[in-house]
Amino acid sequence: MLTTRFTELVGCRLPLQQAGMGGITTVDLGVAVSEAGGLGMVGAGGLPADDVRSRLDEAISRTSAPVGVNFLMPFVDAAAVEEAGRRARVVEFFYGAPDSALVDTAKANSALACWQVGSADEARQAQDAGCDLIVAQGVEAGGHVRGTTGLLPLLDAVLAATPDLPVVAAGGIGTARAVKAVLAAGADAARVGTRFVAAEEADTHPDYAQALVEAGPDDTVLTTAFSVMWPDAPHRVLRSCVEAAEAFDGDIVGEVEMGEARMALPRFAVPCPGRGATGSINAMALYAGQSVGAVTKTQPAAEIVRELTADL
Ligand SMILES: Cc1cc2nc3c(=O)[nH]c(=O)nc-3n(C[C@H](O)[C@H](O)[C@H](O)COP(=O)(O)O)c2cc1C
Repeated sequence: MLTTRFTELVGCRLPLQQAGMGGITTVDLGVAVSEAGGLGMVGAGGLPADDVRSRLDEAISRTSAPVGVNFLMPFVDAAAVEEAGRRARVVEFFYGAPDSALVDTAKANSALACWQVGSADEARQAQDAGCDLIVAQGVEAGGHVRGTTGLLPLLDAVLAATPDLPVVAAGGIGTARAVKAVLAAGADAARVGTRFVAAEEADTHPDYAQALVEAGPDDTVLTTAFSVMWPDAPHRVLRSCVEAAEAFDGDIVGEVEMGEARMALPRFAVPCPGRGATGSINAMALYAGQSVGAVTKTQPAAEIVRELTADL
């Protein structure tokens, strides 16, 4: 099996990271990926400290392999980062300027700090803020997209900007061929999101998973359409959900679960449909990367890990 700076630093067997993806990335999913040898990530988004603590306590009680946690900067709670740093192997941030105070908080108890970036400048800032590893996210990526550059030129630029840090490549990677390609291009690991949205352990509504199965790489679009609750943040979704939301007649498209509560979901709101969502699922934000053509069925996360890392 291939050893890289990523596997050595993080302590996992495979140069593969499952992307943190908010509520989709359940404890079950993170644990399944970590047990299969990749770096499993639990989504924290903007959850409060108690929720982050209990999710991570559960995750680390179920696997001795390293587990990470992902925070979204527009919603982050510093107390939650402190709890995360006491429990997770990797504490990761996305969508905001690299912040040395948060990085210090994350690292206070020997966790590694990671920042997902969309440019070489942002990678340098993450290094200066004290990060231990960097994720370079190409514009092919599903979900919110930080930069404007395709993965290969971005990866090159980030590797040159922060040569001493392990760099993980993200965006449009959905097959073993693509994983091998980014490793050959100098990445220390591949990060995969969309494939894991269709994992059995993910909190994904079956209609969302089915829409991914039916879509090909030309069926995504980079847009700012789903901006209620998080404005001015470009994201890649299935084109069909933008069209369905535009055609939807009404202000509320359905309901989604937010922790224990249920919430009426405004048209063009950011949350994507989990298993408990009701209403017009196809008019909700169905995030997907250009890797979506590689989603052919719903399957166990461990099987996805095996497929992605075959022949490494
Ligand atoms: C449904 C979905 C939700 C996402 N949510 C987050 C998130 O909460 N935090 C984050 O850092 N990245 C998030 N991302 C982006 C991923 O970290 C990653 O960059 C992307 O999935 C890589 O492209 P791929 O989907 O083609 O594999 C999300 C992606 C998707 C598909």
